[in-house]
Amino acid sequence: MERPYILINFAISADGKIGTSSKGPSRFTAPADLERLLSIRERADAILVGRGTLEADEMSMTIPPERHPEKQPLRFVISRSGKFDPSHKVFQTTGGAIHLVVTEASAQVEDIKGTTLHRCSLEEFLSVAKNELGVTNLLCEGGGSLVKDLFALDAVDEINLTIAGHSLIGGKAAPTITGFPGDFLPASRAFQISHFEPTADGELFATWTR
Ligand SMILES: NC(=O)c1ccc[n+]([C@@H]2O[C@H](COP(=O)([O-])OP(=O)(O)OC[C@H]3O[C@@H](n4cnc5c(N)ncnc54)[C@H](OP(=O)(O)O)[C@@H]3O)[C@@H](O)[C@H]2O)c1
Repeated sequence: MERPYILINFAISADGKIGTSSKGPSRFTAPADLERLLSIRERADAILVGRGTLEADEMSMTIPPERHPEKQPLRFVISRSGKFDPSHKVFQTTGGAIHLVVTEASAQVEDIKGTTLHRCSLEEFLSVAKNELGVTNLLCEGGGSLVKDLFALDAVDEINLTIAGHSLIGGKAAPTITGFPGDFLPASRAFQISHFEPTADGELFATWTR
């Protein structure tokens, strides 16, 4: 499959959870976590999220102008249902061009001004991103359901984690980077550590690459 280099970035608890059972917004564990997210965004030509994360985290998917970014990454949001909320913050914020990806052929999708709609699978869209939209580095910021599908396609090259070892997150439906507990990947994947950085906040940044 022709596709961009794909990075993921998550903050996780000591027991590997990326959010709570209520699917509420994920809060940055510490200011350094936000700083790291923004510096990873600066490496990306495009950011990809699932509709669940876009909504839970009220994302604008941009780099703040005060960082004087050389460019704003393209913004990709994927959905099976196509139920995008046109009043969502992302559609009201200046930033990279917005591409909506809807994978369910029968989904009814409202036309949202200023966006481009792609009707294809996740796998097909990765090829479109590379070959038609010129994306070399693609940062996926979640959520777990989407990243699980990327791992299932064997399409993740780099894992960035902020490990918040000070917290455990309870609840049967608290998601992980491969979806919900018990919703297993079809096969194992192997990475090696390439960066390891304890932070002053008592957390740990680490990167693993293929
Ligand atoms: N700790 C962190 O760093 C971090 C990062 C990101 C997210 N989170 C948390 O994770 C939770 C959200 O998790 P989630 O699993 O619901 O998020 P998600 O993967 O963003 O959202 C799931 C939705 O995205 C769409 N989707 C996902 N994979 C798809 C695919 N392969 N093809 C087409 N559409 C796809 C579907 O949308 P439709 O329903 O429209 O069909 C699906 O219902 C939130 O609580 C958020 O705060 C935490």
